[in-house]
Amino acid sequence: MSIFREPGSRRGRGRTLVLLAAGALLGIIGVVAFNTTLEATSTDEFCLGCHNHGIPYKQHQLTVHYTNPHGVVAGCSDCHVQHEFVPKMTRKIEAAREVWGHLRGVIDTDEKYLAHQPAMKARELARFRASDSATCRSCHDVARMDLEAQSPKARREHARLGSGAKTCVDCHEEAGHAALAPATAEQEQSFDF
Ligand code: HEC
Ligand code: HEC
Ligand code: HEC
Ligand code: HEC
Repeated sequence: MSIFREPGSRRGRGRTLVLLAAGALLGIIGVVAFNTTLEATSTDEFCLGCHNHGIPYKQHQLTVHYTNPHGVVAGCSDCHVQHEFVPKMTRKIEAAREVWGHLRGVIDTDEKYLAHQPAMKARELARFRASDSATCRSCHDVARMDLEAQSPKARREHARLGSGAKTCVDCHEEAGHAALAPATAEQEQSFDF
């Protein structure tokens, strides 16, 4: 390339600077675009764009993670996407299956969703177990749990955490989605959709 042919010349240096500046600018644009995409694909609205057939959103709205007296809530990504870079990227890549499934319409009615639920649930629970419920722990710091303030049963179970035998979702499977009991008429009224 010509810029390398005349390394000492003014023209060569000038071109190198222009090239470097252009490279830096492209780099910045790339980083901004990347972060914006990550942000945009982490909102509830994004997930609900596809998961919009009542389940699992209705079940989610029946939990304290959707609404509680303190207003500190957990959204879809808070539980389903780990914060650390590598696991987060891995999960985003795995989501290719979801795009493909969406195109084939595998969960586009409640009936299809229910038929497909056991397979999805198994995959998701396996993820939680593999990470020792990392996303739960990003909010619930076991070391700072005031065990004395918990019920004797909770205290006993939580004191055993870390022994590797059980992870959060083994005992709190319904933390993100209440059991599929039929919703009351009042609940149906209050659902977002
Ligand atoms: C393009 C549509 C689409 C978007 C956007 C989407 N999903 Fe999905 N999701 C699907 C489909 C379809 C499946 C079922 C995939 C299959 O089994 O083939 C699925 C499956 C899942 C599962 C079950 C586990 C698994 O591995 O199948 C979870 C959990 C999940 N999605 C959470 C989310 C979260 C959280 C978001 C937002 C960050 C999200 N999804 C965004 C379409 C989507
Ligand atoms: C407090 C944590 C938490 C939140 C918040 C949460 N989930 Fe889940 N989700 C779980 C857990 C744990 C499982 C596995 C157990 C189960 O199936 O309920 C799960 C399972 C799923 C599945 C697998 C199929 C199924 O119905 O079991 C899908 C799909 C899913 N979640 C989507 C979502 C979407 C979309 C949102 C946001 C509207 C969301 N989740 C919010 C914890 C959460
Ligand atoms: C974004 C932060 C956040 C995440 C992620 C999160 N939680 Fe929570 N969780 C909370 C808050 C805040 C409360 C207390 C709500 C209240 O005021 O009662 C809570 C309450 C709970 C409770 C008490 C339930 C009850 O009925 O009182 C359990 C059990 C629980 N979480 C388990 C989990 C599990 C398991 C996960 C992972 C699947 C998880 N949480 C993920 C913030 C979070
Ligand atoms: C071996 C079973 C077991 C495991 C594993 C477990 N818990 Fe619990 N947890 C319980 C029991 C039992 C209760 C009490 C439930 C009740 O009183 O209805 C409880 C209660 C809670 C509460 C409510 C405490 C309160 O007093 O308000 C939170 C929050 C909670 N667990 C979070 C977690 C998190 C986060 C993890 C993983 C780090 C976890 N638990 C792992 C059994 C377990």
